[in-house]
Amino acid sequence: MIPCQRDLFDLPDDVAYLNCAYMSPLLRQAVALGAEGIARKARPWTISSDDFFAESERARRLFAELLGAQADDIALVPAASYGVAVAAANLPLREGRRILMLAEQFPSNVLAWRELAREKDGEVVTLARPPDGDWSTAIMARLDERVAITALPHCHWTDGGLIDLVSVAARCREVGSALVIDATQSLGALPFDLAAIRPDYLACAGYKWLLGPYSTGYLYVAPRWQDGRPLEHNWIARVGSEDFSGLVDYQDGYQPGARRFDVGERANFGLMPAVIAGLEQLLRWGQPATIETLSARTAEIVERARALGLSALPAQLRAGHFLGLRFAGGVPAGLPEQLAKERVYVSLRGDSLRVTPHLYNNDADVDRLFEVLERVL
Ligand SMILES: Cc1ncc(COP(=O)(O)O)c(C=O)c1O
Repeated sequence: MIPCQRDLFDLPDDVAYLNCAYMSPLLRQAVALGAEGIARKARPWTISSDDFFAESERARRLFAELLGAQADDIALVPAASYGVAVAAANLPLREGRRILMLAEQFPSNVLAWRELAREKDGEVVTLARPPDGDWSTAIMARLDERVAITALPHCHWTDGGLIDLVSVAARCREVGSALVIDATQSLGALPFDLAAIRPDYLACAGYKWLLGPYSTGYLYVAPRWQDGRPLEHNWIARVGSEDFSGLVDYQDGYQPGARRFDVGERANFGLMPAVIAGLEQLLRWGQPATIETLSARTAEIVERARALGLSALPAQLRAGHFLGLRFAGGVPAGLPEQLAKERVYVSLRGDSLRVTPHLYNNDADVDRLFEVLERVL
């Protein structure tokens, strides 16, 4: 178990921030390094051509380490939607074939698929939320030879509903479906077994569980797709781009691996130092210890919430770092206002309260949440 890490963050004592699924706070160190990164451009003569490569390659390596991949398998992208768009531009879809996804999935892993289905006369199949919360069984029941693309998260962004991706991936291989994962609400906290799952693509925004700044993200591209078509054509992704004097000797070849899918201006001097600080900290904590610690925290919250008549998915169907608390009769009047007044930060999604703590939370944060809940309920 990892002890409370609040000192690494700039969280005032009277703020109970239980909303990492919305966005994580930046580490103090990331803020300092990011400020230095921004300040470098006040003196552009201090930025060398090597700097266009060194930090972004470091970020690529660190993310690869977190995922258990090779640096060559990773593209640097600005958003999960960008990564999913790369997948949608490269995966084949024949007329009448299906794209499978979950009800109320996050739009970044839905809209590109709807568009693709329209273009190619394919069909989007959206699985209804299973009454017992067991997404994996529901997915397996619909995953047959008609499905060409299965687009999923590791856990549902509304309530942490967990998907058994090892079993789903095996089934995808059996029926010939590609598997695209949006790991934005899981990676960094919930370990991902890349060797067992072997997705075709995995996209991940960096500003939540990866502790990164906004507009940073990653795309894992399986080796079999690395010779695909990028969304755009930027100079740095081409072979020999290290030699600035030769850039107008236009090159058709690409930098190795998934680098061809990098977003333009990926050498982001302002943000990269903060990105690196976040990823390094996650690797120091380790995802297994992080998920163990966060699971204990959410389990304690579930137990206290049950005493007030709230319910949550059973532990085996929920990602340990994630919680959606449901109110039998809907969200009580006045709850959002009370929470805001008391500086308790969670998200309200439909009839459930999304509570997503991290290692910066302490017992007092949880007590503050329950003080408000007990008052209102
Ligand atoms: C599951 C999931 N994916 C992706 C995102 C962010 O997407 P994007 O990086 O495309 O803005 C969010 C944000 O809430 C999310 O919950």
